[in-house]
Amino acid sequence: MKIAVIIGTRPEIIKMAPVIDEIDKRGIDYILIHTGQHYDYEMSHKFFIDLELKKPDFNIGVGSGSHGKQTAVMIKKIEDVLVAEKPDLVLVQGDTNAVLAGAVAASKLHIAVGHVEAGLRSYDKTMPEEINRQVADVASKLYFVPTEETALNLLFEGLSPHEIFITGNTIVDACIRNLKIAEKSSKALSDLDLDGDVLTLTMHRAENVDDPQRLRNITDALLEIGDELEDLKIIFPVHPRTVKNLKKYGIYDKLESAAHIQMTKPVGYLDFLLLLSNSKFIMTDSGGLQEEAITLNVPCMTLRYNTERPETVTAGGNILVGSSKQKIVDTLKQISGDEDLYKGMMEAQNPYGDGKTSQKILDVVLKAFDEGKLDIKS
Ligand code: UD1
Ligand code: UDP
Repeated sequence: MKIAVIIGTRPEIIKMAPVIDEIDKRGIDYILIHTGQHYDYEMSHKFFIDLELKKPDFNIGVGSGSHGKQTAVMIKKIEDVLVAEKPDLVLVQGDTNAVLAGAVAASKLHIAVGHVEAGLRSYDKTMPEEINRQVADVASKLYFVPTEETALNLLFEGLSPHEIFITGNTIVDACIRNLKIAEKSSKALSDLDLDGDVLTLTMHRAENVDDPQRLRNITDALLEIGDELEDLKIIFPVHPRTVKNLKKYGIYDKLESAAHIQMTKPVGYLDFLLLLSNSKFIMTDSGGLQEEAITLNVPCMTLRYNTERPETVTAGGNILVGSSKQKIVDTLKQISGDEDLYKGMMEAQNPYGDGKTSQKILDVVLKAFDEGKLDIKS
């Protein structure tokens, strides 16, 4: 059996790494295709070092561009690789343009697609990720869903329960494995000024950082928080999309000169995990961080009005604060001023499994292969 694993951006490298490790462990033949959607050292190569991954067998080098152009180039080049390599299964992860391109290219060649983190839905079709998820799910054969709730999304869309496998999320595998390594090897904390209560912040979602009004509302809240909560220190590793827009709208220098905000380049996974696990709060619009927050028992505020990870909210570990300045400031004050609320958020139960997701995925893959279920023409 031969598997083609497709990755393209930071979160796909992180969340696919445990699956790749498991493929390696079982001695299965595989190729690794990197679409090159993320290409900066600190958005891509650094993760190959931290996660001890082999160099990709193919790097498509798509780079940045409009959705149409980026996706079209990826479909064409992934198709070329798949035609030449003839894998039995293509694995994609998540909801990026690489996932859309990989799932479309493979399914049109009648190669079975396994979608890791399938079934998530925000039902917000203004998000490019929602379109990517839905299209990838239409094109897939095996659905590795993180939770029962996610499985129901797919059942409601008419998919067969025989193709849906509740496996948890590989982010838990990644967190458990790499936090242990980080605790031994990372020097991240000594490089940062971590006096006081640390709030780790990330944001990169198009609807927040490409919209100057929303970006201003959020950054005004970050500045005001410094006056309201004296001991708070915000550590902000800034995504390249966000750097570009903060500079474009003249906000970057204001944030950089605020005494309570420390901006850095994006950091490697080991350093970042150690930072998260030593944080008192997480504020983010990232999908992965909502999951990592509840895995590491750190209360999370999500800078969005909806989430495709509602389990984190219903479990009590995550609050949606949107992009309203007042709501962001008030919620943070409330959480930090109410010990019971803070403790309740910390103790929210992780819905994403026990860290054995990649083993479960590979068990399903091998069984499906043995039973001839990857032959989608039969
Ligand atoms: C992409 C995904 C998003 C995911 C995020 C993870 C899509 C539609 N979006 O968003 O779902 O949450 O990755 O971080 O697939 N840039 C660089 N260097 C890089 C990469 C990007 O400078 O290595 C800059 C470029 O100016 C680029 C911009 O960031 O135009 C946006 O990059 P892009 O990959 O299009 O989208 P992300 O916002 O990273
Ligand atoms: N991450 C990291 N360094 C950083 C910021 C994030 O290693 O400076 C990791 C984070 O731990 C998570 C993943 O990147 O696993 C999330 O990626 P991102 O927020 O870019 O994408 P999303 O999850 O929203 O698709």
